[in-house]
Amino acid sequence: MENYIAEWLHLVLRWFHVVAAITWVGSSFYFNKIDRSFRPPEPPVDGVSGQLWSIHGGAIYNYSRYPLGPGYVPGQLKWSKWESLGTWMSGALLLAVVYWYGASLNLVSGSADALSPVLAICVSIFSIVFGWIAYDVICKQINDERILFAVLGVLLSGAVWAFFQIFSGKAAFLHVGIVMGTIMAGNVWFVILPGQKRMLKAMADGTIAQFDVGAEAKKRNYHNNYLTLPVVFAMIGAHFPMVYGHELGWLAFILISAAGVSVRYFFNTMHAGEARPIYIAFGAALILATMFMIAPTPRSVVSGETPTVTYSQVADILTQRCVACHAADPSKAGFVEAPPKGLILDAAPSAVKAAQLVYQQAVQTHVMPPGNVTEMTDDERELLRQWIEGGAKAE
Ligand code: HEC
Repeated sequence: MENYIAEWLHLVLRWFHVVAAITWVGSSFYFNKIDRSFRPPEPPVDGVSGQLWSIHGGAIYNYSRYPLGPGYVPGQLKWSKWESLGTWMSGALLLAVVYWYGASLNLVSGSADALSPVLAICVSIFSIVFGWIAYDVICKQINDERILFAVLGVLLSGAVWAFFQIFSGKAAFLHVGIVMGTIMAGNVWFVILPGQKRMLKAMADGTIAQFDVGAEAKKRNYHNNYLTLPVVFAMIGAHFPMVYGHELGWLAFILISAAGVSVRYFFNTMHAGEARPIYIAFGAALILATMFMIAPTPRSVVSGETPTVTYSQVADILTQRCVACHAADPSKAGFVEAPPKGLILDAAPSAVKAAQLVYQQAVQTHVMPPGNVTEMTDDERELLRQWIEGGAKAE
């Protein structure tokens, strides 16, 4: 029952989280697009630096940008702030439900020298808090945009690698995503919103002519813009064992994130009216390169050389290492109510049918058993490999 309730909590939180993230990323993309699409109004309008005409849902819209406000504080001012907070809060709760409550399955790496679940949770919390503090300090120290961008890129890449050494591949992807998401939400709440409050105050005080939005807020906006695609990739990538389960999963993450930044750059140039499609090609090339880099190595099965492993040898392994969860009535106390993904591995026909999936999850990658809870050995994986490469026969 306890797990049933946890699953529901998980489901509802995830729904909320995805919707909140859509509103956040959506409004961020939207405002970036508008901001880069502004052109000087013709004829000129007092105080308006840019104007944009737009059509949507059967009406024509006219946006005007007032860098120093319209001369008064508008009564009805829409803010963009709850989107980021809602996304971050629901993400934090999800992290707690899935990766802290389920630490032994989802968080720890499962290797022999893996951290204990409690220690792994401490590292998880620390890395999120430390990630924001380190980012914030570095931003304030380095003024040159390009150098800062490069330094942050190198540090984030280092974090990806480090998370891969500490956590399971899935949790590693997720933690990079959370660190980046925390930086983005922190930028909104600790830098951008306070800056806007100061701006409103200056408008009310009549000192707006001397007001400077400040390089800091611009910098943070710029970072948030480029972090969106990598963060979304982190969240989605954590569902693809072929990427996170690969030993070079950390490098794959870095390359695909770079592709995301490149694609984002293209869209920024496009909205500004000077599209540079080469950056789409560059992003595609990076993804293609990653695809080749982590492609499974096809093994040519030389008949006669492959020792024939029989199902009965494999059946023992499956029973010991998998069937606690992957059975019609999973016996592993309190873990699951039904076999995960409906996969049952307690008899020959179903094991034969699932052979390719098993190969992917327990041989090519070590995604299963999760956190290696059932302590599967490398020799057992090798036997499983030989059985499947030998044609996964039932007898
Ligand atoms: C502690 C419980 C547990 C054990 C033990 C376990 N699994 Fe899993 N397995 C899961 C869960 C949970 C999922 C679903 C993961 C997800 O949704 O990402 C899963 C998913 C899978 C999938 C993916 C199925 C699909 O349709 O995508 C395969 C294949 C798999 N397991 C094989 C194995 C093999 C082989 C073993 C033994 C070597 C094993 N599992 C041991 C819990 C377990």
